[in-house]
Amino acid sequence: MPKEQVEGRFEEVKGKVKEVAGKVVGNKAMEQEGSAQKNAGKKQAAAGDEKKSAKSPSTPKAQDATTLLRHDHKVVSDLFDEYEKTNVRAKKKSLVAQICADLTIHAQLEEEIFYPAVKAALKDKELVPEATVEHATVKGLIAQVEGMEPDGEDFDAKIKVLSECVKHHVKEEQSQMFPRAKESKLDMLELGAQIASRKQELIAERSRRA
Ligand SMILES: [Fe+2]
Ligand SMILES: [Fe+2]
Repeated sequence: MPKEQVEGRFEEVKGKVKEVAGKVVGNKAMEQEGSAQKNAGKKQAAAGDEKKSAKSPSTPKAQDATTLLRHDHKVVSDLFDEYEKTNVRAKKKSLVAQICADLTIHAQLEEEIFYPAVKAALKDKELVPEATVEHATVKGLIAQVEGMEPDGEDFDAKIKVLSECVKHHVKEEQSQMFPRAKESKLDMLELGAQIASRKQELIAERSRRA
């Protein structure tokens, strides 16, 4: 609650008390003073209220590209952890669906927006091509598990390999590509905005197809 609103409420209550006390002891001046204080407090509290509502709905804070991509990495890593812990088939199925959807969108965002920008800024001939090949491996594994029934050791083995591939790939991005991108002249906030807006489009496209 904004300070202004808190102070206003406090003044309003104090005024009300004084107004009532004035009435009780029959002191008109005290009663009027209390009433004025109460109304002023009310106004102040309302101003604080307006301030609060002007802030909401809060505009999402602009985030730089690597923060957004790191966030995606964390979400997928948590989903893989959940997969490892469960034996419930339906849960496995929904986790794999989520993992595949998230990874597909994430890879597309990097390939469409982040990698080309990094490649150009760093004049890179190594990190981005290698990362793109790793994406192809991940996509190959996704094609083998997406929409399939999670039955048996083979399925679990494929998820395990997918998880390890992703872990290795994420480690390289976060330890090499992201720091170098941040040191470059790239406008990471601008790239972040492009990634965030494209992500919304891809999520919407995917849910339309589902
Ligand atoms: Fe990647
Ligand atoms: Fe990534």
